[in-house]
Amino acid sequence: MKVVITKDYTEMCKLASRIFAAEITLKPDCVLGLATGSTPVGMYKELVEMYNEHRVDFSQVKTVNLDEYAGLSGDNDQSYRYFMNHNLFDHINKENTNVPNGTAADLEAECERYEQVVASMGGVDVQLLGIGNNGHIAFNEPCEEFPEKTHVVNLTQNTIEANARFFASMDDVPKKALTMGIGTIMKAKKIVLLANGAKKAQTIYDTVYGPITPKVPASILRLHPDVTIFVDEEAGALLKK
Ligand code: GLP
Repeated sequence: MKVVITKDYTEMCKLASRIFAAEITLKPDCVLGLATGSTPVGMYKELVEMYNEHRVDFSQVKTVNLDEYAGLSGDNDQSYRYFMNHNLFDHINKENTNVPNGTAADLEAECERYEQVVASMGGVDVQLLGIGNNGHIAFNEPCEEFPEKTHVVNLTQNTIEANARFFASMDDVPKKALTMGIGTIMKAKKIVLLANGAKKAQTIYDTVYGPITPKVPASILRLHPDVTIFVDEEAGALLKK
């Protein structure tokens, strides 16, 4: 695992965006694993800027997102499909984008379908991750065992509270989500995790130095052969001590 402490959020986003742009240059039909949350917004802006300057071409790129809230359709402005359209897809020449369907009649079947979609593409070349305050990646919450495949998850109170800032009220935050499993994520050839702000400092410390345990889902990334974590000074503050 490589850890890069950047001067600030802007530098973190610029460096991470170059990894994705380089991947597209080297493999124009690559599969990108994408993430939501406030953290990657700046990186998506960088990619849109590169696209506008004709430095990157998404026409053959395939994307698969990590997760989606159960019960929210793609036109709901709190859904992750909406987030991706708004922050990236509407601004680039994308062709093939995939986000789990949160309103599928049978959510378990949707998880199986999604797992197949990822497999049929030959797996993810570069996977982007954020991290929850409690160490969750995608919506893999702290638990007793690392979940392997795409599955339906009950969100923890910690995550519901953390994500309530995007909703009108706490009651509006969905209590369930569909998420790629830890096994699905670990199969990606390369993983880039981003974290900024003091709130993430402890979980970044636990991820890098703590025990590898499903109680800190991101800690398993230490077993992956190609992971780079970019943190700003605040999120990396405890690493320096
Ligand atoms: C959600 C997403 C995660 C994301 C996390 C952190 O729970 N499912 O993929 O990493 O939020 O969000 P933020 O970047 O806003 O801190």
